Amino acid sequence: MLSNSTRFQESLNKRKEEGTLRRLRLQSDGADFYSNDYLGFAKSKELQHLLLQKIINNPQLLSGSTGSRLISGNSDIAVSVENCIAQKHKFESALLFPSGYNANLALFSTLPSRQDVVIVDEQIHRSVHDGCKLSNAKKLKFRHNDLEDLENILKRQENQCYIAIESLYSMEGDFAPIQEIAQLADQYKASLIVDEAHAFGVFGYGLIEKYQLQHQISAAVVTYGKALGGHGAAILCNETEKSYLINFASPFIYSTSAQDFQWVSIKTGYEFLDQNHDLGIQLQDNIKIFRSQNLQSPSMETSPVQAIVIPDNQKLKQLQDTLSEEGFLTYAIYSPTVKEGSERLRICLHSFNTEEEIVKLTGIIKEFV
Ligand SMILES: Cc1ncc(COP(=O)(O)O)c(C=O)c1O
Repeated sequence: MLSNSTRFQESLNKRKEEGTLRRLRLQSDGADFYSNDYLGFAKSKELQHLLLQKIINNPQLLSGSTGSRLISGNSDIAVSVENCIAQKHKFESALLFPSGYNANLALFSTLPSRQDVVIVDEQIHRSVHDGCKLSNAKKLKFRHNDLEDLENILKRQENQCYIAIESLYSMEGDFAPIQEIAQLADQYKASLIVDEAHAFGVFGYGLIEKYQLQHQISAAVVTYGKALGGHGAAILCNETEKSYLINFASPFIYSTSAQDFQWVSIKTGYEFLDQNHDLGIQLQDNIKIFRSQNLQSPSMETSPVQAIVIPDNQKLKQLQDTLSEEGFLTYAIYSPTVKEGSERLRICLHSFNTEEEIVKLTGIIKEFV
């Protein structure tokens, strides 16, 4: 039998040979076409100044929370920020988490029972799969955004079903047919859970709010590490679900709460978003410029994520290296993060990218595809 360290080393060597070894790198300088900071909030001096003022006025915000929210870690601030979030999204209630990964882990490990079936889009985020692994429910996958496949699976189920989708998928840069899926969920009495990580902020408060689907959704997740430029997440749900999560969700119960400053940053992020609609417009202008360069992409017209499929690891790596030498920061996604044969360069567009940068970037890509 192989020793653990030999096994670890062999797996790492295999990744190295394939050119897919993951490494922690420090952020380099360059034009940002890889971060989730779609609206530039993470680096906004104005937002930093607002947050600094909050700390100067109330340094206690920086104190540790001292425990789980069920013991010593709850606060007036956490409760009031949750109420404010629920109100803004027009859900009955909200429950804060330190990250979207934690929120999905809590949701999917807790709501579905042993007898239930969770039907996930095949491109759903890893945090949903990991949540399902911690639950006793059965998990089935439907083909990406394929309503017919989803309906065929729903038809065959006798037990209570959950459907898990993202409103905007971050690997493909395409939207879920969320209204049609909500209709199917109604028809088959399934509970629909929507992850709005990439849509929140880019499209106002997200696509559920845009299409006013709150009453057809069992729960939603919004995250604050992407367009809001910070960190954290909230589950939007009804009072009973919130109480159930507080009682039974291990990632919520057995973890120290974040400090109040994180909750205040989220609230300030919402206020900043409300006051800066122009950034969303600038982002859409930049997406239009990118799309007008006529690169082949499976992504949708208005998506801030534009994928360029290059199903050849070597060529993909070469392109990314060339872009990096030219001062462009992009991210290449290899299998198994995406299916073999659909490896891609993932371009994230931002409100702060310039037309010149976008035209130069796409010019280099064109030489490789
Ligand atoms: C769709 C989706 N859900 C959840 C998460 C996790 O959110 P967070 O980064 O806040 O943990 C991500 C982040 O990559 C995501 O893309």
